[in-house]
Amino acid sequence: MIAKLILDKKREGHALGSAEIRDFIAGFTCGEIPDYQMSALAMAICCRGMTERETADLTDAMRRSGRCLDWPMATADKHSTGGVGDKLSLVVQPLAAACGVAVPSLTGRGLGLTGGTADKLETIPGYNASLALDDFQKVVADVGVSMTVQTDEITPADKKLYALRDVTGTVASIPLIVASILSKKLAEGAGTLVFDVKCGTGAFMKTRADAAALAHALVNGARAAGRKAAALVTDMNAPLGFAVGNANEVAEALAILRGARDAGRDVELCIELAALMVSLAQELPLDAARQKCRAALADGRAYEKFAAMVRAQGGDLERFAALMDRPTFKFRIQAMKSGRVAAIDAEKVARVALSLGAGRLRTGDAIDPRAGVTLAVQVGDRVGTGSPLATLEKSTDPEGLEKAAAELYKAFEIATEAEAPASLILERID
Ligand code: URA
Repeated sequence: MIAKLILDKKREGHALGSAEIRDFIAGFTCGEIPDYQMSALAMAICCRGMTERETADLTDAMRRSGRCLDWPMATADKHSTGGVGDKLSLVVQPLAAACGVAVPSLTGRGLGLTGGTADKLETIPGYNASLALDDFQKVVADVGVSMTVQTDEITPADKKLYALRDVTGTVASIPLIVASILSKKLAEGAGTLVFDVKCGTGAFMKTRADAAALAHALVNGARAAGRKAAALVTDMNAPLGFAVGNANEVAEALAILRGARDAGRDVELCIELAALMVSLAQELPLDAARQKCRAALADGRAYEKFAAMVRAQGGDLERFAALMDRPTFKFRIQAMKSGRVAAIDAEKVARVALSLGAGRLRTGDAIDPRAGVTLAVQVGDRVGTGSPLATLEKSTDPEGLEKAAAELYKAFEIATEAEAPASLILERID
């Protein structure tokens, strides 16, 4: 294989052959193809696109760059393209497990505005979110659900390529995004994949059309690889639920799992995502799967699954409760006029949470587990002058809180009247 000829071919807009894609990725993974040639190919793919067959070949080549797991039982996983306040995995994965579907979930750490499920779980004292793959397999077999970060053994080609895409302006390409997400999810081995493709200010897909195109490509790619798959395109203009941060998001997920908060658009979305996993994995009608999920949430089985997973991975929920009781530096903001909350800009809230220390700008930065924003209202709520809108929080020192509060105000739009918010689910692709 001559790398330069492959680059010429893609630059001219021709489809690459399966063997060309496979050999290029294998060469890049072992270091025979240098970063500059891989970057050039990524740019050519960005500009020229790829057919469905080429995308499937790229996905497969990346999947095979590392270890691939497979499971003897019915398995499912949910993947979100990343949203603000998106703690849904903490509810959805144990909920599906409580309905009898094993959930092996390799998850990520946050970078920039996107929070990572692993960072949230690590705020539970003792929780090990960096299990070796053998331990991950054992927790899934024993408990029915495990959430841990992807190790270097899974899709090393994606790890190398993503680092290059990040610095060469080649992230925003549907074939590259699909191959990146799907290669990891296929290597993880779940038989059913459900995608939550976010769309709006707090998502990396800003328009409905782009989000729907990505959702279709993910579902088609997963099916081409022999998996059952479905996707929801969901609204990400306002944060999901009330908490945006890390420990506060875990506390909110626990409240949903314990039944302390049993209504809300985010709770409905959790049930829908878990029901899609259960319906596909167990071949049940969707309505029957929804009922099964509602029952498992209401009677505490989903909470029990979460608690069992936390214990199996070394975590201690009592120490987490004590952590949440520890004092922090707080700043509350209030409405300056009465009316209805017409909008809460997810991206602006995420930027404030990041500035308080809830996220990281570079891989490896430390995060403040208690830093973040907790909203007091949701879109559509009525407020009076002086009603609480949100609390900003950090544990290190009070510096920056007031400035961040001024930024947070800008996220809220209060109008005399506002429409009641519609469902978060914009479209289902199955
Ligand atoms: N998430 C991924 O894992 N890869 C991408 O390319 C984009 C989002």
